[in-house]
Amino acid sequence: MSGGRFPTLDGLEVSGKHVLVRADLNVPMQDGKVSDALRIERQAPTIRELAEKGARVIVLSHFDRPKGKVVESMSLKLLAPALAAATARPVAFAADCIGDGAREAAARLKDGEVLLLENTRFHAGEEANDPEFAKAVASLGDIFVNDAFSAAHRAHATTEGLAHLLPAAAGRAMEAELTHLHAALDHPERPLMAVVGGAKISTKIALLGNLIRRVDVLVIGGAMANTFLAAQGAEIGKSLIESNQVATARDILGAARAQGAALVLPVDAIVAKEFKANAENRATGTNTVAADEMILDVGPESIEGFCARLDHARTLVWNGPLGAFETPPFERGTVAVAKYAAARTRAGKLMSVAGGGDTVAALNMAGVADQFSYVSTAGGAFLEWLEGRALSGVTALIKSRDR
Ligand code: 3PG
Ligand code: MG
Repeated sequence: MSGGRFPTLDGLEVSGKHVLVRADLNVPMQDGKVSDALRIERQAPTIRELAEKGARVIVLSHFDRPKGKVVESMSLKLLAPALAAATARPVAFAADCIGDGAREAAARLKDGEVLLLENTRFHAGEEANDPEFAKAVASLGDIFVNDAFSAAHRAHATTEGLAHLLPAAAGRAMEAELTHLHAALDHPERPLMAVVGGAKISTKIALLGNLIRRVDVLVIGGAMANTFLAAQGAEIGKSLIESNQVATARDILGAARAQGAALVLPVDAIVAKEFKANAENRATGTNTVAADEMILDVGPESIEGFCARLDHARTLVWNGPLGAFETPPFERGTVAVAKYAAARTRAGKLMSVAGGGDTVAALNMAGVADQFSYVSTAGGAFLEWLEGRALSGVTALIKSRDR
């Protein structure tokens, strides 16, 4: 993403104003309870700050994918208590994000009060970025604050459209995301190292293509490393590989050579005959995997090698686990390298940024999610940013400044 300047809450006059805050309350739930509140906690400071400054705060969000219809189990009403807890203030709720009910609830707000509106995706106009729907939402507020970085890759009415209709600014969570991501990839202290893991190259081709042009060191782990090993001619038994991506892997290896970037693959692995918890396993070189074995994690020599790379890096961008971390004991490689990166960060030697998909879960498992310089709450938006793509919601904020 290019680092255009975006307006923030600094100097924004909000007292007595209706401020529409686009949050991302799309959190995982289990049995009707929030199972990971990180996103809600990250959105709370913006809401609190606005309320303390006397704004009448109206919170907008999507939740799950109801596809333009009312789906009771995807009602944001379920999230109102969690938002109230995180912001330490009462949160009123309106059963629609447009129309008379929403308008009346907004009109009842006093300075410093907070209202949560129903799931924006209950209306098809949200995902279609329908100008009429956007206008109907915009009519409820005087100012638009976008705090939903993790939904900024969506050009939807409340993530993009509203920025064209109202004075707009980034909330504190959006500001923190953009500031850290910008520092990590656009103006990094070098050497810049990326760690990319996960199962599939096919979902990360654009990301790898962009990173290889920007980083000094690219470490690849997870099952996607298998396809790179296969591209180099290694026999890796029954390890998961994407046979249709071997050519892509070869291209990326070629691009690394052309750029003078170090592409670092595992040299050894933890292998097992079956993929199940606590399966019998052994460590072996990546060129000595038996025909009936599969790679499920990086091995001890690889861990040592990756950590030695971290000793020289000044900036780290991390996306994806290095092994099948959800199935013990194949989390060990991810945990060991994450702990090492956290230690380098704590020692002030490394600026570390992580995000996307399973990454936060993996860092939580390692117990170090709060020891990285910054952990993004974004999944898809983080990946698109690593791909070097402009995020619609952010572009609209940057443009709104010039209006
Ligand atoms: C996410 O969880 O990735 C964001 O909230 C965006 O949701 P979406 O992938 O359903 O657009
Ligand atoms: Mg998503």
